Order: sequence, then structure tokens, then C-alpha cells
Amino acid sequence: MDHIVHYDPQLPGDIPSPCFVVDIQRLKANLDILDSIQKTCGCKILCALKGFAMHSVFPQISRRLAGVCASGPHEARLGADLFGKEIHVFAPAFSQSDMEDLLPIAHHISFNSFAQWHAHRETIESSGQSISCGLRVNPGYSEIDVALYDPCAAGSRLGIPRSAFDGQSLEGIEGLHFHALCEQNSDTLKRVLSEFEKQFSQWLPQMKWVNFGGGHHITSPNYDKDLLIHTILQFQSRFPNLEIYLEPGEAIAINTGVLVATVLDIVHNEQDIAILDISATCHMPDTLEMPYRPEIVGAGLPNERVHTYQLGGLSCLAGDVIGDYSFDAPLQPGDRIQFLDMAHYTMVKTTTFNGIKHPSIATWNPTTSEFEIVREFGYEDYKNRLS
Ligand SMILES: Cc1ncc(COP(=O)(O)O)c(C=O)c1O
Repeated sequence: MDHIVHYDPQLPGDIPSPCFVVDIQRLKANLDILDSIQKTCGCKILCALKGFAMHSVFPQISRRLAGVCASGPHEARLGADLFGKEIHVFAPAFSQSDMEDLLPIAHHISFNSFAQWHAHRETIESSGQSISCGLRVNPGYSEIDVALYDPCAAGSRLGIPRSAFDGQSLEGIEGLHFHALCEQNSDTLKRVLSEFEKQFSQWLPQMKWVNFGGGHHITSPNYDKDLLIHTILQFQSRFPNLEIYLEPGEAIAINTGVLVATVLDIVHNEQDIAILDISATCHMPDTLEMPYRPEIVGAGLPNERVHTYQLGGLSCLAGDVIGDYSFDAPLQPGDRIQFLDMAHYTMVKTTTFNGIKHPSIATWNPTTSEFEIVREFGYEDYKNRLS
């Protein structure tokens, strides 16, 4: 085995590289927290599949959470096939064929405009299916610095602004949905909720449910769970007839997974550069989009430790760079690198650009030391995405 210098010693050394490894005990710990919120407040928490859709662990998640939040027919079908329970769907717009696919499986559908609701109302009502329809509203308030991730930024296409409610009938609508948070704490939810109520509370007495969207960082260490519970209980005391839903994606899988990669080569051009067997753009695109810097086991900021390298990916993209990191010992081909917190918004966003091999997907149970490769990918997966 090549020597492994930056690798969690708990994990077996013969993991195929690259590989996403999800720790099912950590997943369980997150689900324990989410479930305790549900039990304390009587709210329902859904798993937003856009953030985490590793379906081999759906049985664990569906035992604890109320259902899934889907972004359209494919996620909804994955939820219906493999998760079960409640299927809630929102998309900026639905085609007629989307609606036909959703009718047999969706429990809640939220629309992004009155025009979409009017376009699909008759189809839903005449289907004989019991589907609860809602509207996604834009509370016009958020505290997100990165515009790319801010659904309430000026001019956003997401959610119906209060002004568009004037003169509209909400007959047939049973719920309101807002999504205005991104990796945020409960104090932000409290302020968003207050804006939401200022603008939309006149319609709440006639609703059956309110969906507080995602972006709640409930399972991150600094999250104020007591304030979340207090905020939900207070809301329930004002609106006792409303069922409350939260639909986090990230919170399900925070700190549950790593991406194991291998150094393939070291090159030098004004700096030391390590070429890895992964790609930022193919496997961890948020590092470029957001952008952010993933933590690596046993590595520091540039020049914090003795040997600094730029870590680069396999694709042709000049900017396929994960970042600059320093290590105690020089990197060598064959060294393993372990990127932390790589379970959410990674597997769901990967591509096979340049035909680069997709990382395997595995589970790890540190209590029993069971390591299971759930899926490996190869040439056929690349070929089958093309024609
Ligand atoms: C409508 C909606 N619900 C839920 C989520 C999940 O958010 P997060 O993964 O940040 O909790 C998102 C994320 O974009 C979203 O757009």
C-alpha cells in the first residue's frame, strides 16, 4: 500500500480512490438531533434531496424524518421509490408532463407563481389524487451575503412577492412555503419568520401548513436548537392550526462524509502543485461556485505547515484548483488526501466532464468497523450520459 500520511487512521487503508465515504454513525447522530426537534415541536422535517440523495442510506433517514422535499419529478420519483413517506415538490415551473409524472406520487406541490397554480389546478383537482397545493412566497428578507445562494436577492425569480398577491384568490391553496436561509442559525430564521408574518399572516388562518424551507444548519455544532424550538413553539401558539414543515438538505449530512483522493503527480510552476485523482469542477463544484475551502485531515493554511502545495484536479479546466494547503511532510504520488464534509451538495452535483472517473460511494461504520463500497463507477456511466 502506498504510504498514507493525511488519512484518518480509523478508515481502512484499501479504500478505492477516489471515493465518497459516508459515516453512518455520524448520519445517525444528525438524524437524532433532527428527530428530537420534530418530537419537541411537533413539526415535520423533510430531507431535501437536492442536497443529499444517497439512496442506499434512505432506510436510515426515512425511519426518522417525515419525507422528502423534491425539486421535480425525478427527485420525487426517487423519494417515492426508495424513501416512502411524504413527497413535497417545488420547482420554479412545472410542465404538463412534469405534472402528470407527479400526480400519482406527490403529497404537497408548491407553485412559484399564480399563473403556474392556475395552469395546473384543474389537472390536479380532476386527478382524484389527494394533493395539497401551496404557493412559494418571497418574504423579501434574507441575510445571505453570496447572491448566487440568495433566493430573496433583488429581482429574484424564486417565490411570489407580497405585491403579486393583490387581487388574487387563494381558494384551493392549503399552504405557504418560503425558503430564505442558507447555512444559517435560528436567529436568522426568527427574523425571516417575522418578515414572512408581517407580509403574509393575513392568509395564514385559511391555510393548513407552512413550510419554512431549507438552509437551517440545525446539526452544525454552533446551531442554537433551543431558539429554533422556541421560535417554532411561539409560531404554533400564534397559528395553532398550521402544520409546520422544515426541509433542510445540508443539515441531514453535515460532517458525515469525506472524499478520499490520491496524489497522482507533483509538478512545479512558481509553486509546488499536487495533481489529484479528483476534480473540483466534477466532484466538488461548490468549492468553485460558492467558493469555499474544504478542510483536509492533517493539513493547514498555506505556509502554516512546512510544505505548501496547490491541489489541482484532473480536468482540462485551468481553474480546476481546490486550493492551497500546507502539510508537515512533502506530498508524494500515492499519498491519500481526505477532504472533510463532502457528503452534501457533492454526490448530487457531480459530472463526468472530461470522462473523469466518478468517485466510488461507500459507507463506513466506525462502531463495527464495517466498510462497504455501495457503488463503483466506470466507463459505462460516462458513456450512458451521452449518445
Ligand atoms: C426550496 C428549497 N428547499 C430546501 C433547500 C435545502 O436547503 P439546504 O440544503 O441549505 O438546507 C433548498 C436549497 O436550495 C431549496 O431551494
